[in-house]
Amino acid sequence: MSAILELDQISRRFGGIAAVQDLSFGVQPGRITSLIGGNGAGKTTVFNLITGYLAPDAGSIRFRGERIDGQPPHKIARTGISRSFQELRLFNRLTSLDNVQAAVPHQKGESILRAIWGGQTLRDEAQVTQARAHQILDDLVILHQVDTLAEQLSYGQQKLLTLGRLVAAKGDLLLLDEPTSGLSPAMVDDFCARMKALVALGCTILLIEHNVEIVMRLSDWVIVLHQGTKIAEGTPDEVRRNESVMHTYLGLSA
Ligand SMILES: Nc1ncnc2c1ncn2[C@@H]1O[C@H](COP(=O)(O)OP(=O)(O)O)[C@@H](O)[C@H]1O
Ligand SMILES: [Mg+2]
Repeated sequence: MSAILELDQISRRFGGIAAVQDLSFGVQPGRITSLIGGNGAGKTTVFNLITGYLAPDAGSIRFRGERIDGQPPHKIARTGISRSFQELRLFNRLTSLDNVQAAVPHQKGESILRAIWGGQTLRDEAQVTQARAHQILDDLVILHQVDTLAEQLSYGQQKLLTLGRLVAAKGDLLLLDEPTSGLSPAMVDDFCARMKALVALGCTILLIEHNVEIVMRLSDWVIVLHQGTKIAEGTPDEVRRNESVMHTYLGLSA
């Protein structure tokens, strides 16, 4: 299987700091790949490079074989890469359903002229969008909350709703930066199950997660960063067995 996302010898400096250096890795479609490493390892910088918030100083990034490095964020988003932010960015005064619907990209040719002449078509499109939003909320098991305002959902459900918005945005590749932070252990389990479900539905996930136990449980592939370089990668078991990684960089015993 070939990688859906490929970073090839990516480097990015900030003044004297090499935040990311000569970094190469691939993300396989339909898998959960995790980026781990201590504070300042370069994880968030990698997300910023992939999503176009930063341009690399050197190297290339390909999504489905096409170069995306150096392109602006809105163009990269349109190729099917969606990212979550630490803050939730929901519309608090809209319902769950409206939050998901609002994330569905506008159909091509949705113009004023079509609004005048193509009323029926537009209504059909609205129905399709609504059906899709229902399906996403169903997949995330928050369908019973369709009419609930986002601000009235529990924190865990709000996090699931942000996941739903990423999926609605046609995100085939989801970049999640510490999505379980702030969740109770029970909610973490629930959230992990939803991530698995999304992957089963065809999504690909690149995850930044500081909780090593979650990483090991959830990931198909783990990449370990230290001071901007890749020091190890492999299956969770392979990384777990790498004692120098577990001790030196994660402060854990294998
Ligand atoms: N916008 C920026 N300006 C200057 N330095 C930055 C910037 N973003 C990140 N860095 C530096 O790059 C390094 C990697 O940071 P970051 O990617 O945020 O690491 P992580 O997410 O793994 O904690 C750190 O030394 C950080 O201080
Ligand atoms: Mg970070």
